[in-house]
Formats: sequence, structure tokens, C-alpha cells
Amino acid sequence: MERRQLLKKSAFAVAAFAFSKELFASEAERGIQKSFEGSNGGIIKLSSNENPHGPAESAKKAMIDAVIISNRYQFDTNAQLREAIGKLTGHNKDNILLGAGSSELLGVVTSWTAYKKGNIVASEPTFKVWLPAARKLGLPTKLVPLTATKHNDLNALASNIDTDTKMVYLCNPNNPTGTVSPQNELEAFVKTVTAKTILLMDEAYTDYYDSPSMAHMVNENPNLIIAKTFSKTYGMAGARVGYVLAHPDTIKELSSFMAWANAGPSAVSMKGALGVINDQAFVDYVKAENIKAKAILYKGFNDLGIKYIESFTSFVYFDTKTYPKNVPAVLQANNIIGARSFEDNSTWLRISIGTVQEMTKVVEALKAGAAKA
Ligand SMILES: Cc1ncc(COP(=O)(O)O)c(C=O)c1O
Repeated sequence: MERRQLLKKSAFAVAAFAFSKELFASEAERGIQKSFEGSNGGIIKLSSNENPHGPAESAKKAMIDAVIISNRYQFDTNAQLREAIGKLTGHNKDNILLGAGSSELLGVVTSWTAYKKGNIVASEPTFKVWLPAARKLGLPTKLVPLTATKHNDLNALASNIDTDTKMVYLCNPNNPTGTVSPQNELEAFVKTVTAKTILLMDEAYTDYYDSPSMAHMVNENPNLIIAKTFSKTYGMAGARVGYVLAHPDTIKELSSFMAWANAGPSAVSMKGALGVINDQAFVDYVKAENIKAKAILYKGFNDLGIKYIESFTSFVYFDTKTYPKNVPAVLQANNIIGARSFEDNSTWLRISIGTVQEMTKVVEALKAGAAKA
């Protein structure tokens, strides 16, 4: 691509980002995505916690080989993947429901909750792109502030449950803050909440730092649903493969809210997931690179006196209060997009962890921006 075209493409993507307030799946995000097709247009994209190392060779090969079966419906592949996930997590395939990304399943749980009529309790801020749809379905949302250290306030969440609460949502590690709660507190929380209502636990990021998972509790707790994804450590965000783990009766209930047995991920995507699921070398590499790249960002923040929260994920939440300029503007001027706000009237932003090279550029850009101030 000619340099002029490349610059035009980059400028478009940066402008699209600047215009967007709610980036997830917005027009602007699609515009950025388009400019990434075939080439990244020189842009470093750190907005959606994608894995910069994916897809794994194992997933790519499996997807290419699977194209040939895409004239048939994917019943068999669906069963194969549920069996493979079950082996990994210690569950039966009847404990598992697959979706086109875990977000499809957050929607399915929401529909089930709407059918029961009531309210949802969740933290603020958390991963809440699915909440506007919940509100449209008639579910009021009770949002509970995080603690002063930006952790989920488990006690406050539990005490906000009322007789109309039909679901509590807990994202652990939490997005956008990257904080985790300890295993014993989570187990106690599961027991308290599931005695009263459905608990949907979003474990999209547990694999990065082996954070505690509550998946072992689903068989004794029909009210517990665990959401997981191939989008993060497995590097398959665009392939759209996620799943929930729950009691078999709960899985049956949830399945009835999917259009039919062939809803969810495509055969090709599921074969990709089957390709990568036992590729421990890839996952280990992703985790090790995330640690290295994150350390570069932490050091940069320390050098610049920027406060941040220690993260157990592939993103970092940081406070721009002491930085002399507008952080997103400084980054955008360097073709880096993704420092996003998740709280009203707050100086805290979230940035995804990219590659070592990308995070080096982020730090260089911030240091140069501060020096010019
Ligand atoms: C906490 C959390 N849950 C769910 C998702 C959605 O992931 P998926 O790609 O599996 O739909 C994301 C995506 O960023 C996330 O951060």
C-alpha cells in the first residue's frame, strides 16, 4: 500500500475512534476493523482486550482444514468441542452450552432472567455492554460501586439482592479494573447468592493468571452459571467461540432460549477451538508475553508517576489525573487507540496489553507527550 493511502487509512481509523463513545460493536469500531483488514494500517489497537498473538498456528490449521465441512450443520463438531472442554474443566458435555462468543450466552442468560421478571445486581464499573439490552427487556439494573481499591464489593452486591432480584452478575477478574477476589471469598459469595437467585460469573480472564474459578461448584448449584471464552488467552476473538458451564438442568433451560441446536459458533470456528484447546505451548507463550508487555507499561507508568491497579488480565486500569495532557489524544497522535473511559466523570482509563513492541511505543508516546507539556 502506498504511504499516502496508508496514512489516509490510519487517519480514518483514529478519527473513527475519536468520534466513538461506546466503542464495542459501534460503527466506529467496525470502521477501525475494516482498516485492519489485510494490514493494521500502522495503528496499534488496544481497545477491546484482543490477544495480539492469536490465532495460534494450531487453530489456523484446524480452521483451514474445516472449511470443507462447512456445507453441513455442525451438530457433531458442537458435541466434540463440548467433550474437549469437559475434559479440560472436569465436566460432562451436558454441563456445557456453546455460544458465538461468551457474550451471546450473556444475552441468553439475560433472556432467561427477563422471562422470570425482576432486577439484575452488578458492579459499577464492570463489563456491561449487555446491560442496555437487559434494560430493554424490562430488567432494571442495580449497580453497586466497587471498593476504594477498585475490587468487586462482594458484601455490598449480596446485600443489594432483594425479592425481585433474578440475577447477580460478577465479572472476576473484573473488566475494566483487572482486580480479582480471593478464592474463599468467592466460594462464600457463590453459596450466599445462589441460595437466593441466579449468579452469572464471567470468567473471561481467569486463564491469564490462573485466577480462582468457581467452575467446580456448578453441579451442586443449579443457580450458578460460569461464562468462559476462546477470545482471550486462546486468541480467537473474531472466530466467536464461548461457553457456559452450569448444572445440566440449567443448561437445558438456557438451551431453550437459543433459537435451535445449531445456534452458536460455526463449524469452522469450533474446529479452530478444538485445534487450540490443548495447545498449552501457545497459551503459555501468550501468558508470558502478556507479563513482559505489562511490565513495560507498569515501568512507564511508574516513571511518569501514573497510578495504576495491579491487573490479573490483559488490560490495565490507570489514573490519568497526574498526567499533564489528555492521554487518549497523546496516544491517538501516535496512531495508538484504546485508552478508554468506563466511569462517568472519572480520570481512570483502561488500556489493553498488546505486544512488547506495542507497549514500548505506548510508553514512548506518553513520555514524549509529557516532556512536551
Ligand atoms: C468480561 C468479558 N466478558 C465477555 C466478553 C465477551 O467475549 P466474547 O468474545 O467471548 O463474546 C468480554 C470481551 O471483551 C469481556 O471482557
